[in-house]
Amino acid sequence: MVVVTIPTVLLFLILCRPSARLTDKGTIEHWGPNDEQAQEQQDLSHHLWTLSLNGKLYLPPIDHLQDVLDMGTGTGIWAMDMADAHPEATVKGIDLSPIQPSWIPPNLKFEVDDYNLEWLDHNKFDLIHARELLGTVPSWPEMYRKVLGALKPGGWFQQADPQILLTSSYDTLGPDHIYHQWNPLLLDSGKKAGLDFDSAPRMKGWLEEAGFINVTEYRVPWPIGPWPKDPHQREIGAFNQVRIEQGVVDFCGRRFTNNLGVFAASMRSAVKNNKLLAHHYVWFAYGQKPPASH
Ligand SMILES: C[S@@+](CC[C@H](N)C(=O)[O-])C[C@H]1O[C@@H](n2cnc3c(N)ncnc32)[C@H](O)[C@@H]1O
Repeated sequence: MVVVTIPTVLLFLILCRPSARLTDKGTIEHWGPNDEQAQEQQDLSHHLWTLSLNGKLYLPPIDHLQDVLDMGTGTGIWAMDMADAHPEATVKGIDLSPIQPSWIPPNLKFEVDDYNLEWLDHNKFDLIHARELLGTVPSWPEMYRKVLGALKPGGWFQQADPQILLTSSYDTLGPDHIYHQWNPLLLDSGKKAGLDFDSAPRMKGWLEEAGFINVTEYRVPWPIGPWPKDPHQREIGAFNQVRIEQGVVDFCGRRFTNNLGVFAASMRSAVKNNKLLAHHYVWFAYGQKPPASH
């Protein structure tokens, strides 16, 4: 049996908190919690992300991995899986919070660090991984400059983020459907907090503009509920439904009062309604630092 606790919740929690606060000493506050529940959510989230990649941990065609960096590693679950899968490589996970376990593979280390500060590593990594960092980087184009500097020539960067505009391809959402209220509300709330919740589809263009080559994007639908016939999509849908339902509860509980409680209840019942055949997308984008001779 698979134990379900949830992670898209973090995305909704973004809306209830200020954005990461930046000073000349770097980031002093992250919007999201890093408590036990948040950590469980990150671990479930990892399961969903790897299901989406059919068990792969990354997509770029890398022959030889020597040094790997996981930005905003959270519980470190991706970094631990990478270190286990690639004993030949050294993996470093960095985060503002020291919430990672201490029993870890010998080729892995965790460091408390702030990726919004200038980076000290140059021409070092074969792969840099950034997942679910939505709302923590004031400017991704500026971040790509740092990532390019830290990659070896020919090294790869992979970024993955969810898009949480809820929709359906089956004409099941009438014009007044609650999701048509949810989506603009979500975007507006993000804007008020200085955050862009619809950045995932733009990652590929930004990577190209920043100078990465061989840039590729990959979009995966995450069903909301176990409605697909395909068993793989069905599994993703089952996890994702719980994840989003919890997210709505947290979001509305912190943010809304009075009649907006009714809004929360309507959202929850929509999320649990498998007849809507609803989904949202998650996006992967990856690109390569030009080799020295390029
Ligand atoms: C939603 S979690 C994602 C965790 C992990 N990447 C995953 O996919 O399992 C975001 C993480 O980014 C970290 N974070 C946010 N801002 C950061 C910063 N400026 N520097 C380092 N880590 C940061 C948070 O502490 C949190 O653990």
